[in-house]
Amino acid sequence: MITQHFSLKNYNTFGIDVETEFFALITDEKALFETLKSNGDKPFRVLGGGSNVLLTQDYKGLTLVMKNKGISILKETKNHVIIEVQAGENWHDLVLWTLEKDFGGIENLALIPGSVGAAPIQNIGAYGVELSTVFHRCKVLDLERLSFQEFDKNDCEFGYRSSIFKSQLKGKTIITRVQLKLSKQPHQSHTHYGNLQSTLKGKEKTIQNIAAAVIAIRKSKLPDPAQIGNSGSFFKNPVIPTNQFTKLQENYPEIPHYPDTLERVKIPAGWLIEKLGYKGKRFGDAGVHDKQALVLVNHGNAKGKELLALAREIQAQVLQHFYIKLEIEVNIL
Ligand code: EPU
Repeated sequence: MITQHFSLKNYNTFGIDVETEFFALITDEKALFETLKSNGDKPFRVLGGGSNVLLTQDYKGLTLVMKNKGISILKETKNHVIIEVQAGENWHDLVLWTLEKDFGGIENLALIPGSVGAAPIQNIGAYGVELSTVFHRCKVLDLERLSFQEFDKNDCEFGYRSSIFKSQLKGKTIITRVQLKLSKQPHQSHTHYGNLQSTLKGKEKTIQNIAAAVIAIRKSKLPDPAQIGNSGSFFKNPVIPTNQFTKLQENYPEIPHYPDTLERVKIPAGWLIEKLGYKGKRFGDAGVHDKQALVLVNHGNAKGKELLALAREIQAQVLQHFYIKLEIEVNIL
């Protein structure tokens, strides 16, 4: 069913109040296909959980929200299981389902907002694990041919917060199902990331305990979108050449960093932004989170354009002071 002149405030985690000319909730692949066929050449776009977008203006066209649900086990061996999840499932609900079944692999990705179908687009990641580590394949609707296709892991070209769906195929496909390969046996857990190790101290490293620790850490640092509008990390962590890093380190010996490749070093954008004094700052209703400077927040009625202006100011300041180009991670629509 298509609704006209619909506010998207409840369909984006920033809580931005913009209007779409037409709006439809999609509950299965057939409905998706039919809706797009009847839409013809008119403009449309798709939202998942709306947790990685900044809406900056009203939309003249059709906004679709994927709400197809279902999780099934496709294949099971002694050690592994392949599950298939419909794109409209909530990501964290899926994590809880795997914990209940004792299927390991995505426990570090607990509490990431958004839908399952959006997860491959930016290759969601946290606490040492990325979706690509468990990804098996996905089904997509090719929007040019209006035909369904399967993509395996190699086809997706996963990288740090990136995939083919965010680059060459941007706006050209809709992910409708995702298959993951999970472990049935105790697997090599990733518990070395920062305070995950200390939060887990003295506890057995079960997937349930790891997820509980991740949830506790996230709750302590990241704002709950139900309480304060946000889209998680607004920027990517920049990766810079080692020689540039060495110079930076001379001025800032305490700068946190992680080796990326031999020639490159990753720096937390949150540190750069905090260093410039933006942490916890507020400009009207647009602000920087007070516990994690990488996250921009909507204190109530911020406009998408105001948040974008703040992001551009931060980018300009980081460039001026550190000679580092911060890349925006969320999709600006
Ligand atoms: N830091 C600061 N000030 C801040 C924030 C961070 O100095 O305000 C420094 C601290 O030294 C801290 C370090 O940065 O130890 C790392 O911070 P944190 O562990 O919070 O991780 P991050 O690099 O800021 C990334 C992801 C997060 C993910 C965490 C944990 C990106 C863009 N962000 O943040 O992902 O939860 O690691 O794995 O890679 C998201 O994508 O929405 C997201 C929240």
